[in-house]
Amino acid sequence: MTAPLKIGIAGLGTVGANVARLLIEQSAALNVRAGRKLTFAGATARDKRKDRGVDLSGVEWFADPVAMAKSPAIDVFVELMGGEGDPAKAAVEAALAAGKPVVTANKALLAHHGAKLAAAAEAKGLALNFEAAVAGGIPIIKSVREGLAANRLERVYGILNGTCNYILTTMESSGRAFGDVLAEAQKLGYAEADPTFDIGGMDTAHKLCLLAAVAFGNAPALDGIHVEGIERITPHDIVFAREFGYRIKLLGVATRSDGGIEQRVHPAMVPLGTPLADVDGVYNAVVAEGDLVGKSVYEGRGAGAGPTASAVLADILDIARGPRLPTFGAPAASLKRPAITPMGDHQGACYLRFTVIDRPGVIAVISRCLADQAVSIESMLQRSRAPGEAVPVVFITHEAREAALTRAIKAIVTAGVVAEEPCMIRMERF
Ligand code: NAP
Ligand code: HSE
Repeated sequence: MTAPLKIGIAGLGTVGANVARLLIEQSAALNVRAGRKLTFAGATARDKRKDRGVDLSGVEWFADPVAMAKSPAIDVFVELMGGEGDPAKAAVEAALAAGKPVVTANKALLAHHGAKLAAAAEAKGLALNFEAAVAGGIPIIKSVREGLAANRLERVYGILNGTCNYILTTMESSGRAFGDVLAEAQKLGYAEADPTFDIGGMDTAHKLCLLAAVAFGNAPALDGIHVEGIERITPHDIVFAREFGYRIKLLGVATRSDGGIEQRVHPAMVPLGTPLADVDGVYNAVVAEGDLVGKSVYEGRGAGAGPTASAVLADILDIARGPRLPTFGAPAASLKRPAITPMGDHQGACYLRFTVIDRPGVIAVISRCLADQAVSIESMLQRSRAPGEAVPVVFITHEAREAALTRAIKAIVTAGVVAEEPCMIRMERF
């Protein structure tokens, strides 16, 4: 009989407390699936006295995550504290140095230090599992790294942030304000400790570079990602999008070409009736396009205690069962930094909303600035108010180079015809 596997959990918040509770309450079923006994042996968090709804009697408490990572009291280190730096980084490094496999849900840590940590794990022949870090409960890392391993993947993209998708969907269905819906998402345990990571797009960027690393076999490249959030999306944009036959979603898109990889995170117009447009609430969805499989779509809950614990426990079960796969699906020594295609080279159509004072000649100025940059207009819509009042004017462009669009928008602002900062949302026609 294989010896029990002693689990140490660092971080007992939304995710960690639920993993701990399930290890205790579901122990019989988990032991059968693991093929050995799993023991919740060690725990650490900031405040020992906090009631977490988990029975910690018989579990060794550590004041310091690094001390737990090194302790012989545990065999597997489960990092659920979050944050790109210490103590998460130091503790994961300490666990790997001490010969212990690691499970983490921490996309910020891996987006910044993934290649180094993968090399440290590989040098010791250890697992560094991070299924929960990307798209919560969807087993997308396993699907891409193992299930699609025979494919050359050209593009991976999707809705990777449950908080943003929840906010956009709820704003649309209820007409409620952005801040009000964000507070609700935080209460439901979807949002990061710092919610600006969610709404500003950085959480999606963290996940996208991990997904791209596994899909394309490169080191996670966070610094090359173009990132925009959803803060400037208004109810106007949501209504206009519908009128044009689209919904607005925060997407992460990674595309491989001969010149390198393009990675971008921004709100996008997604055509109604396509798989991503129908993904609502806290759900995430990922599309992977491979030469053999074509397009495959994965959908599920992207955040929250249950879905995330599902992924963390699956990673623990993988370790209990053995054997180990390379962290990013290729030997760490082959993980080179990819060449990054600049966002200015991106080709695409876009939705442009200008708030203008309704007076003669304004549309002519905007059209001239677009024409000067060879940006062609596909359609236009204006909701009129009284002459002299500010009014939204919306254009959908044909495909154009991002750099040309940016120059055109700058010229329009400089021409003094807009009353507030223009809103640009890229169209995605997958
Ligand atoms: P959380 O609720 O804020 O919990 C964080 C836990 O870590 C708390 O128990 C906290 O201790 C502990 N902690 C924080 N700093 C610490 C330190 N310096 N030393 C020791 N313990 C420390 O966070 P969460 O939502 O569970 O997220 C945990 C990780 O999972 C993050 O990496 C997050 O990105 C990732 N994740 C979360 C979700 C989700 O839906 N929430 C989904 C996927 C991935 P105290 O309780 O004592 O304050
Ligand atoms: N804050 C993240 C989200 C948690 O909303 O998707 C899951 O990673």
